Amino acid sequence: MTKPNIVAGRDVSLPLCQNTHLIRWVEKMAQLAKPDSIHWVDGSEAERDALYEQMVAAGTLIRLNQEKWPGCYYARSDAGDVARVEDRTFICSLSRDAAGPTNNWVEPFQMRRKLKSLFSGAMRGRTMYVLPFSMGPVGGPMSRIGVQLTDSPYVVVNMRIMARIGAAVFKEIDKDEKRVVPCMHTVGMPLAPGQKDVPWPCNEEKYIVHFPESREIWSYGSGYGGNALLGKKCFALRIASNIARDEGWMAEHMLIVGVEDPQGEKTYIAAAFPSACGKTNLAMLIPPRTFDGWKVWTVGDDIAWIKPGPGGRLHAINPEAGFFGVAPGTSAATNPNAMATLARNTIFTNTALTPDGGVWWEGMTKEPPAECLDWRGRRWTPEIARETGARASHPNARFTSPASQCPSIDPDWEKPEGVPISAIVFGGRRAATMPLVFQAFNWTSGVYIGATMGSETTAAAGGQVGTVRRDPMAMLPFCGYHLGDYLRHWLKMQRSLRETPRIFHVNWFRKDDAGRFLWPGFGENMRILKWIVDRARGRALANESPIGWTPSYESIDWRGLDFPRETFEELQRFDRHAWRAEIIGHEELFIDLHDHLPPEMIYERELLICRL
Ligand code: GTP
Ligand code: SPV
Ligand code: MN
Repeated sequence: MTKPNIVAGRDVSLPLCQNTHLIRWVEKMAQLAKPDSIHWVDGSEAERDALYEQMVAAGTLIRLNQEKWPGCYYARSDAGDVARVEDRTFICSLSRDAAGPTNNWVEPFQMRRKLKSLFSGAMRGRTMYVLPFSMGPVGGPMSRIGVQLTDSPYVVVNMRIMARIGAAVFKEIDKDEKRVVPCMHTVGMPLAPGQKDVPWPCNEEKYIVHFPESREIWSYGSGYGGNALLGKKCFALRIASNIARDEGWMAEHMLIVGVEDPQGEKTYIAAAFPSACGKTNLAMLIPPRTFDGWKVWTVGDDIAWIKPGPGGRLHAINPEAGFFGVAPGTSAATNPNAMATLARNTIFTNTALTPDGGVWWEGMTKEPPAECLDWRGRRWTPEIARETGARASHPNARFTSPASQCPSIDPDWEKPEGVPISAIVFGGRRAATMPLVFQAFNWTSGVYIGATMGSETTAAAGGQVGTVRRDPMAMLPFCGYHLGDYLRHWLKMQRSLRETPRIFHVNWFRKDDAGRFLWPGFGENMRILKWIVDRARGRALANESPIGWTPSYESIDWRGLDFPRETFEELQRFDRHAWRAEIIGHEELFIDLHDHLPPEMIYERELLICRL
């Protein structure tokens, strides 16, 4: 049916698996989108190199200086396609009620009609890639498989870093007719015969659509990040949260780290922070020099799939294989592990390009380059920046790097059954009110703390930046069903556990009256992690406060840091007035969720008010 298509010496139009359902679906989708050719992705290096070469020729990628940046490429997106588009993201469950008030919902049959017309002929003039991917190690008991059809080679090479893809996954699909999550994606810019392509094709109209009951994803019009790399937010969070609820596990927007003490004992922590609030940085933390013998190991930096293990404890895997990290602010001073990880085999998107064929972004070095090309391809100099405020990199510029290259990658990061979780941390970006750290009284109050988490919005999503919004468990944009039911699921999880992880809340971002951060953050966060580990192990003291257990100045390890007691007290300060307003903020979310809100949330709020 399809024309031969020779790439790196292979006819890639030939199916790489035997699964008749899959082959028939691919044919059906090709009939709909009408690509010029089909490419079954085997994931080999030869194939990757051919794709890179093709994209360099097309102007989609620029090959960086290979002496300084081996295996690295650079992309500039369209200026209108730079971040996730939450207002264009839909959960099309059969009933509106199942999606809840925080998700955009469209009646599924109506949405299917719309998608059919959007996708009709959408891939004309392009190749449709058949990209099989495993979230989690191939064949692992917690792993899941998806197949993404896409007309974006940029997506293929990014997904090759972010997930396990290719022949091994096809083999797994063939093994026992495994069910896969179908993920249909187009940039939405068909080419007429002879029409010249642009470096970053996309469409002004965007649809990121999930059908939770049939476990399907359809994405139209964007080639960027979570909109287009469908294994990430669409599958591993929105669809997986539905699967997890049905099967009794959890799909969370969390990093996973192992904290090793000088005796070699490792304690794993999972932490949920909203987008661009410090997950990647905490996941790769390097302890201060004075923390002799302590080491932090990276398991994951964005997503955790968490399941009760045989011993009645929660175990977590990182379903991803790479990092899609925020570039601006990443430096040898703040995150040396990230800098080492991204030094090779990395795709940079929307950073600046330096004259020697390298990349730069705000915060990468103290001294900016004398000149460079900004993320739009325009000349940028520090003088221009001073005069006009122009940025060299987009605030949501990102690097795509293999996790295996991270110097702190945990030896057990690919353990198919996951690592045991002893503590769960919630944290937002809050200039005021929220202390540096406190511990929940118990699981239920911990769920309340996660549920009522607030954070100032960032550039990771389109829309206004810097306003506080409630973001339960950092899942507001990622929970694929009603958030009230999601909180109920969290509460229910405790029943399947013999040992519940301890729950904490942190805020690295509290500011003084002059608007300066009170806390140095980054590596110094180790001091707080140590207290968390010690608490989880029952070794550290804490004081009772109205909101939870808090450390005194003496119970934090200050070795090597001359940190004033007054600043710590300011960081930990509990302000009754501010908390009054805070609880009224909780109420706003609860009103939205009210008919699905677990009663425990109401009781916890009442108790909190009483303690106030
Ligand atoms: P996503 O990939 O969008 O989910 O983001 P993330 O949660 O992984 O955030 P990341 O670690 O990339 O950090 C985002 C921004 O927060 C960067 O500009 C960091 O420099 C900054 N940041 C991270 N940790 C700290 C910290 O401890 N203190 C301060 N002040 N800033 C931090
Ligand atoms: C986030 O926004 O939380 C990200 C980036 O991790 S994206 O993959 O675009 O969702
Ligand atoms: Mn994220």
